[in-house]
Amino acid sequence: MNDNVKIKGMGYAAAQRRINNHDFTWLDTSDEWITSRTGINSRYVTETENTSDLALRAALSAIEDAKIDKHEIDTIIVATFTPDMQTPSVASILQAKLGLNDCPVMAFDLNSACTGFVMAFQTVSAFIQTGRTKTALIVGAETLSKVMNWNDRSTCVLFGDGAGAFICTQYASKESMAHFANSRGDLEDVLSAEGLQIQDISNARPLTGGTLKMQGQAVFRFAIDAISDGIRQVIEQSKWSLDEVDYIIPHQANMRIIAHVASKMKIPQEKFIINLERFGNTSAASIPIAMAEAKANGILKEGHRVIMVGFGAGLTWAASTAVL
Ligand code: UT7
Repeated sequence: MNDNVKIKGMGYAAAQRRINNHDFTWLDTSDEWITSRTGINSRYVTETENTSDLALRAALSAIEDAKIDKHEIDTIIVATFTPDMQTPSVASILQAKLGLNDCPVMAFDLNSACTGFVMAFQTVSAFIQTGRTKTALIVGAETLSKVMNWNDRSTCVLFGDGAGAFICTQYASKESMAHFANSRGDLEDVLSAEGLQIQDISNARPLTGGTLKMQGQAVFRFAIDAISDGIRQVIEQSKWSLDEVDYIIPHQANMRIIAHVASKMKIPQEKFIINLERFGNTSAASIPIAMAEAKANGILKEGHRVIMVGFGAGLTWAASTAVL
């Protein structure tokens, strides 16, 4: 038997305001262009809730789904690149919002952009397998609307705000888990959002936040290779065949990316869990939102073998297997 990780509960939260393609009246774009090039019909954008508020709603729903006492949580990791503040971390803010202040909790954020949730799952799996963690809350949460240039039609129509959460615990199983992660830090310019600037302290100026910049076609090509590589790597490690995998949950960026991977790898498209048509690309939140929604809809079930595969800024990419 192996020390394995059980995803005991899942939850998700969408931001309050739904924006449909035809609502982008200030842009030179169309529903036809966005739908045919991306598969996205709508996305949710926050009006008042920050990243920790969306994370809280997703976390409460995952705790309820897992049927655990929230006080059992000893580890909180939030994958995000759009935190409420530079510091403290969203994970610490979330601990307070969950009312877990009197419990010993290891809380920190992890930034690997859209790959962040898979990295959080891999991190927590290592903690669980070494006994460091008993019950973990991992969350992918983003308020990408904060880093959007709302006049740049090539990016702002793609992204949305939301959060997805897992409760993970230890369990003994015959299956072993497979994890893979890789990075190409030299490709930073392909997808980035500026952070705080180094200041000339003798001539201090107001601080400004950076907006997201992307070379769409370069990311598109990278994404197809990254998803294919991630799937191949964990299939090889796990000794599963692709036929034995019930579902693949890719980062939800563009329907055409997923269709390319499906056709290139000869995987039926029905094997991919996809909800980007309604949520857009929610970066680190996209995989847990897709999985939690699929579980709530009865698509993902106990015992299913799944592969989560993410890619994003860094450039980074990662994949993990799990048995639900
Ligand atoms: O989480 C990681 C995230 N990012 C991604 O995964 C993004 C990957 N890339 C993509 O999804 C696609 O490259 C995009 C959806 C971003 C763009 O689609 P594309 O088919 O690669 O279009 P393109 O960049 O080649 O642009 C084609 C045309 C351009 O006009 P011209 O130069 O041909 O006149 C763009 O200016 O489409 C124009 N365009 C738009 N037109 C209407 C770009 N965005 C829009 C828009 N509406 N929203």
